[in-house]
Amino acid sequence: MNEFEPSAPVNCYEASDAWRTVDRYFTSTLVGEDSALVVARDSGDKTTMPNAEVAANQGAFLELLAQIAGARRVLEFGTLAGYSTIWLARAVGEQGHVITLELEPQNAAVAEANFHVAGVSHRIETIVGPATESAERLIHDGAEPFDFVFIDADKPNNPAYLAAALKLTRSGAVIVIDNVVRNGAVADAASADPRVQGVRAVAKDIAAHPDLDGTAIQTVGEKGWDGLIIARRR
Ligand code: DHB
Ligand code: MG
Repeated sequence: MNEFEPSAPVNCYEASDAWRTVDRYFTSTLVGEDSALVVARDSGDKTTMPNAEVAANQGAFLELLAQIAGARRVLEFGTLAGYSTIWLARAVGEQGHVITLELEPQNAAVAEANFHVAGVSHRIETIVGPATESAERLIHDGAEPFDFVFIDADKPNNPAYLAAALKLTRSGAVIVIDNVVRNGAVADAASADPRVQGVRAVAKDIAAHPDLDGTAIQTVGEKGWDGLIIARRR
């Protein structure tokens, strides 16, 4: 086994008990995951990809980043059960707007029920279909520029989602990409996993783009060993 080969299927990385304990400590003392978020988290079981939502402390991190960026308009690639969407809808405030793109009608239905429970349905538009096509339509329709983008859908399409995000954002916008470490697999240039190659390609695109500053942060916790890319348009 190659040293970078994931030790478990990539959507169920092994989290150590210590990592879980620390996540639980911070989530219970600092983060405050309310009942609507717990409902959304638990409903992940009704989606096509259970347990893929961000951890509570990561959701709070997204909310804080969006608030720090002063985001009023957020675009999300990949809704699933809408767990991160609810954090982002709270970040944009009563006058804000979130558009979230989801391939699977089943997942979109689960998410919309969760938005209703969380009382944020009126701030969120869920668009069902392949996210590249939905984003193309937003570009074609001249959508008002977004301030913050969270890319968390099928990983091979990360470069296409970044390219669309660059056509849909204002100067100063923040772009966050989930699941960029994948149990360390990201460092394996020869990886045959198209999800790993999707991350490597988007990292390369960000590095090469004259108007983007970016970095990546590794994370450990209940979601195992993973990480986020954070980029900003100049
Ligand atoms: C995968 C996708 C996710 O968004 C996530 O949080 C975990 C895993 C995946 O495609 O494997
Ligand atoms: Mg993810």
